[in-house]
Amino acid sequence: MTKIEITGGVPLQGEVWISGAKNAVLPILVGSLLGDAPSRISNVPHLQDVTTTMELLGRMGAELSMHDSMQIEIDPRGMNHYEAPYDLVKTMRASILVLGPLVARYGRARVSLPGGCAIGSRPVDLHLHGLQALGAKVEVRNGNIEARADRLKGARVIMETVTVTGTENILMAATLAQGTTIIENAAQEPEVVDLANFLISMGARIEGAGSNTITVEGVDNMHGTDYSVLPDRIETGTYLVGCAMTGGNVRCTHTSPGHLDAVLDKLSEAGAEISIGEDWIEMDMRGRRPRSVDITTAPYPAFPTDMQAQFTALNSIADGTGVITETVFENRFMHVQELQRLGADIRLKGNTAIVQGVSRLTGAPIMATDLRASASLVLAGLVADGVTTVDRVYHIDRGYENIEEKLSALGARIRRTDSAAG
Ligand code: UD1
Repeated sequence: MTKIEITGGVPLQGEVWISGAKNAVLPILVGSLLGDAPSRISNVPHLQDVTTTMELLGRMGAELSMHDSMQIEIDPRGMNHYEAPYDLVKTMRASILVLGPLVARYGRARVSLPGGCAIGSRPVDLHLHGLQALGAKVEVRNGNIEARADRLKGARVIMETVTVTGTENILMAATLAQGTTIIENAAQEPEVVDLANFLISMGARIEGAGSNTITVEGVDNMHGTDYSVLPDRIETGTYLVGCAMTGGNVRCTHTSPGHLDAVLDKLSEAGAEISIGEDWIEMDMRGRRPRSVDITTAPYPAFPTDMQAQFTALNSIADGTGVITETVFENRFMHVQELQRLGADIRLKGNTAIVQGVSRLTGAPIMATDLRASASLVLAGLVADGVTTVDRVYHIDRGYENIEEKLSALGARIRRTDSAAG
């Protein structure tokens, strides 16, 4: 079983290159199915979720080729199978994103219904209601979502809750619908904007992405394009929290500082000195222990739920008491019990974690439970005395490119180990 082993105690120092955003590249790869010709996507991160998406598109008949290490070409012209099967959906819930493009472009889709997951029940009802509003016939049968439509028709779609992939699914479906679609209470995440820009570069007519109302004028067909994926704000934030926890000095390059306002505000409050350029962020903790910060997660532009676990880890070694309130997902505190194994003092009360900072954590074997929780455990290992081993690292590989190489380059004592004994 592969594990990550960390010996704590080294402040992170140096420069780290930020990869393309996982949550942007997945819908963009899928969105390329809407075109009549191949698209080339660059700044693609090497992640397990990207590999899973490529397998999914390949099984449907799309032809994929890697041009250089970070560019993928997708040719949708051979598409002949319009299904996302359970064996892929259960490893990556974002597979649901094929639903909108398949129905819009090919008139039908069968997508296995995602089940529960470690961070809550995560329903997809709003994806289905949105497609129905555009005229698709949607049924759930034998564990699959089956959707059909001759041609989707533009409509007003009001999202009851702000949903990122739900907004993306309806946005993609609307591009080829007949007439105008207005998506209200749309997600405003930068990854939604990146997808919209990608679709516009394929010939879609979209206005308002980045606000809570997106208007799509349907077109008859879309072409291929060349597109570079935006940098990963969550990866950026994760390395900055690592810097804050270890009292280090880190410069993140090839990133997008403007997408991190809520996170940078909290890091400043924790005592970090931050400077920003067009595509870089430099942070200096000057060897100091961070101060505790209170966090409440909510949709963009508020504080991202995908940074909650990392700030829980930060608060566990900070000076003072920090209150973390999770409003986006139920049950997203799986990392708390693992942090407690390292000596963290955290009390859970419903959707709130009250974290009393301790002066030191001590290394122990711990288990990753989901993607961002696993990152928080690695961060905790960077400051814990002695050795921390993180098991089930496949969660990390879904969303962090070369995490141990990048942290090693910043001076961390971290390595991947394989032990037959598990
Ligand atoms: C996306 C991100 C994930 C991030 C999350 C919230 C991707 C691939 N994943 O996930 O990293 O943590 O946004 O920023 O982009 N909901 C419903 N019905 C639905 C859909 C969602 O009730 O049909 C609820 C969810 O249970 C949750 C909330 O809406 O409570 C937000 O979830 P959503 O934005 O949909 O998350 P994802 O798009 O799955």
